[in-house]
Amino acid sequence: MTAILATTRKRMFDIPHKGLRNILSQLSLMAGNTDYRNAFAIGKLHQTGQELFVLLDEHAAGENAVLLADLEQRCPGAGQHNLDDHEEIEHRQAALALALDTLLAGSKTGADMSAEGHQFFQLLSQFHAAYIQHMLEEENDTQAQLWAHFTDEELDGMTGRIISKIQPDVMLLWVKWSAPALPHAERTAWVRAMKAGAPAPFFAQVMAALEGALPPLDLEMLMGEL
Ligand SMILES: [Fe+2]
Repeated sequence: MTAILATTRKRMFDIPHKGLRNILSQLSLMAGNTDYRNAFAIGKLHQTGQELFVLLDEHAAGENAVLLADLEQRCPGAGQHNLDDHEEIEHRQAALALALDTLLAGSKTGADMSAEGHQFFQLLSQFHAAYIQHMLEEENDTQAQLWAHFTDEELDGMTGRIISKIQPDVMLLWVKWSAPALPHAERTAWVRAMKAGAPAPFFAQVMAALEGALPPLDLEMLMGEL
């Protein structure tokens, strides 16, 4: 079992992993309460599923191309277990995506998809459990290796390289799912950094995404500190 770390050093997985926990939990709730005889409800479920898959793909690509690649250079073999996990997750994710596409296609014919919907609910729970375990391993085992082999400045540089590769529409999805999942101080620091680094038209889109994602009081507190 993964040992849980306690430390004051910078944790690199907080923002994406809290966002992924948020969307996985919401999708799990939706998969449980969706009326699978209702095409509109299945369409909403499918849309949230597509957002999850975009975030999962982008997240794994960033970890593979930056964190695990840099770790491999300093400590060959150290990230192999994590890379193998990413491949395994890709297969599970493909099965989940196929099940969701099947639900959507069936709903468009007017079919009752209740039996397939329950299968999807179960498949998603399996994926959810495996993905939470995967994140815990990264947050503790991989994070410990990164701390052991890199300075905080180097780790900040890696985070910057990952962020620089994120497409604007994907970044807006991260804002939608990660911002509500962070405590106020961390959310504010993240949004301030975006305000400082992003062109004004894109930051306006970030603010629109925050308005849609945050409870009114949280939004008001954030706006007061930008
Ligand atoms: Fe991760």
